[in-house]
Amino acid sequence: MSRFWAIIQELLVEYDLFFFHSDTFDCDRTKGMIMKKIGVLGSGIVGEVLANGFLKHGYSVMRGSRSPEKLGEWKTSHGEANIGDFKETAAWADIIVLCVQGLHAVAALELVGDDVLSGKTIIDATNPISGEEPVNGVISFFTGPNESLMEQLQSRFTQAHFVKAFSSVGNPQMVNPDYNGVLPTMFICGNSAEAKADVTDILTKFGWETGDMGQVEAARAIEPLCILWCIPGFLNNSWNHAFKILKP
Ligand SMILES: NC(=O)c1ccc[n+]([C@@H]2O[C@H](COP(=O)([O-])OP(=O)(O)OC[C@H]3O[C@@H](n4cnc5c(N)ncnc54)[C@H](OP(=O)(O)O)[C@@H]3O)[C@@H](O)[C@H]2O)c1
Repeated sequence: MSRFWAIIQELLVEYDLFFFHSDTFDCDRTKGMIMKKIGVLGSGIVGEVLANGFLKHGYSVMRGSRSPEKLGEWKTSHGEANIGDFKETAAWADIIVLCVQGLHAVAALELVGDDVLSGKTIIDATNPISGEEPVNGVISFFTGPNESLMEQLQSRFTQAHFVKAFSSVGNPQMVNPDYNGVLPTMFICGNSAEAKADVTDILTKFGWETGDMGQVEAARAIEPLCILWCIPGFLNNSWNHAFKILKP
């Protein structure tokens, strides 16, 4: 939705002039806020947890898979949500959430196509995990230290606005985690300030403080946090932690 129409919609909702419904104007009247349509690409656990989180926070949600029938059971228990293939889901959405295997992230977005992705915010939750066995709890990436998966995605799909997020924590903690009132830090990066503002708004609702690390190259630092995050899990079966930036 263009900025112009977003402002018009905000005014209509604010002054309770919102007397019609359409797919273009998708809003949460009770809170008087515009709720963007979220398309979650992923039939795995991350796709499920994040899709459920967006539903919990009042967003319209569609979930995608190459085989949408995989999502039939989830659809049955979440009647208000839609399902489709990757392209249908991405085309419907204002914001896309990429929750596919890192090894196949480019292939998944190829199925969507540049024309659909152009101009859209893509929340990139993927990690470039190579699939080899961990060595003393340390997993391997298929990217090197001066590379990142999100840079590969951004340089392939140049017109999309990628924002790294949700990659440095386990799925059970992604939505409103409980750390006794302390907000954990979600590290994000990306080239579009507007896209990062949208993601920051989502993270605030999801109970996170946002740590904006800058442009797409910062994914070289954010993605490996996944390696660090996994070590206590593999070594001590401890999987409930999250990162927090402390400031004096
Ligand atoms: N698990 C966690 O707690 C966690 C935490 C942070 C980040 N992450 C990252 O989040 C992402 C999703 O993780 P996950 O555990 O939910 O699921 P996953 O098993 O890593 O990924 C499942 C998704 O990958 C897609 N996929 C697999 N092969 C494909 C191919 N050849 N072409 C296109 N798509 C393909 C599947 O598509 P179909 O639906 O069509 O089968 C499915 O939607 C990963 O990148 C992971 O590193 C995971």
